[in-house]
Amino acid sequence: MADKLKLDKSMAMFAEAQTLVPGGVAGIRRPYNFVQGEYPIFFDHGKGGRIVDVDGNEYIDYLCAYGPISIGYREEEIDNAVIEQIRSKGFCFSLTQPMQNELVHKLKELIPCCEMAAIVKTGSDATTIAIRVARAYTGRLKIARCGYHGWHDWCVEVKGGIPEKFYEDVIEFHYNDPDQLEDILKRHANDMAAIIVTPVGHPLAAEVQMPKPGYLEGVRQLADKYGCVLIFDEIRSGFRCHLGGAGALFGVTPDLATFGKAMANGYAIAALVGKREVMSVLADKVFLSSTFFPNSDAQVAALKTIEILQRDKVLDVIAEKGYKFAAQVEKVLAESGVPARFSGAPWMPFITFPKDETGLYKTLRTEFYTKLIRRKVFLQPYHHGYICYRHTDEDLDYTVQVIREALQELRSLI
Ligand SMILES: Cc1ncc(COP(=O)(O)O)c(C=O)c1O
Repeated sequence: MADKLKLDKSMAMFAEAQTLVPGGVAGIRRPYNFVQGEYPIFFDHGKGGRIVDVDGNEYIDYLCAYGPISIGYREEEIDNAVIEQIRSKGFCFSLTQPMQNELVHKLKELIPCCEMAAIVKTGSDATTIAIRVARAYTGRLKIARCGYHGWHDWCVEVKGGIPEKFYEDVIEFHYNDPDQLEDILKRHANDMAAIIVTPVGHPLAAEVQMPKPGYLEGVRQLADKYGCVLIFDEIRSGFRCHLGGAGALFGVTPDLATFGKAMANGYAIAALVGKREVMSVLADKVFLSSTFFPNSDAQVAALKTIEILQRDKVLDVIAEKGYKFAAQVEKVLAESGVPARFSGAPWMPFITFPKDETGLYKTLRTEFYTKLIRRKVFLQPYHHGYICYRHTDEDLDYTVQVIREALQELRSLI
């Protein structure tokens, strides 16, 4: 087994952070979401597909900042465009700058359901306003939801500090199970405001799922049948699976869709887009405003990112790299005899260990991800990764080799 990494500075910073910030660092970035004691906790810098922690360890990074990095870290063309905007015009004013219109024209050109858009900052902003719009438009209350939609009161998994009544009108359903969804819709027939679903299924710590043939079309039909607004939560899939979102890729058009993460290669921006008739409630009935929403720095970054995605056919390149990687990893997994599964091809690679009665899967998972991080491959045991444009063929080949070695070493445990 490779040696444990030297992480002294990360650990010292974390000890200090715990006296300053509850939990030391925010939510999903906490050490218990990785392998405690084996993963770094603070990064120093990154470039392309690589990151360097505060102890100087360099990794091939497949977490991509949990999704925003579609091209690569410190992408000069994008950073330069933002710097130019900051230096020549400024980006934070009391009124809106013209990039808003330019960006929405672009979104309209690319996203099939987009007749209008509202620009916000985070994915949670976008999904929360989507729900508010759907309720105002339909005059109904209940929401059927499937997937992680952010940290706000109506949908967060950890319910601490949230009155029960805030989520009792939100009913969860399983991905790829239209019958269960229809049961929910039947039960609340006249009170369903919206169905919100991630078009690609990515439940926490479980395999990434692609829609079964006819699934998304079926969800579309159910939304029409029960008169509710269909929302695709494209925060992870947008600008990664397809420029128009996974809905465009799979040929199903929702009424509303939320985009964020990969839209600006790391700059904080998200959008609610959708049909004019539904979006129009935002003009008078529904309030949406926040100090930083109109800032143009991230809008410039989004415009430049989208320009590069189109110009260099970035998403085709990512898909090509991702399929090649997937084929190699699947072969390695099959040869290893280790009970592990690969999912998420081509964009969101994930190696999971199916639950077993003895709980061995937990040991295999911990050991596997420990072996990876010690060999400087940065992935998260409970969350799928991402392929970005700047991952090189050498990075991907090295990673396949590391996975092969790690699985070989796991064989003694099964
Ligand atoms: C599908 C989906 N929706 C919404 C969100 C919330 O986005 P944010 O973390 O930017 O608030 C996320 C974040 O991971 C997400 O994956």
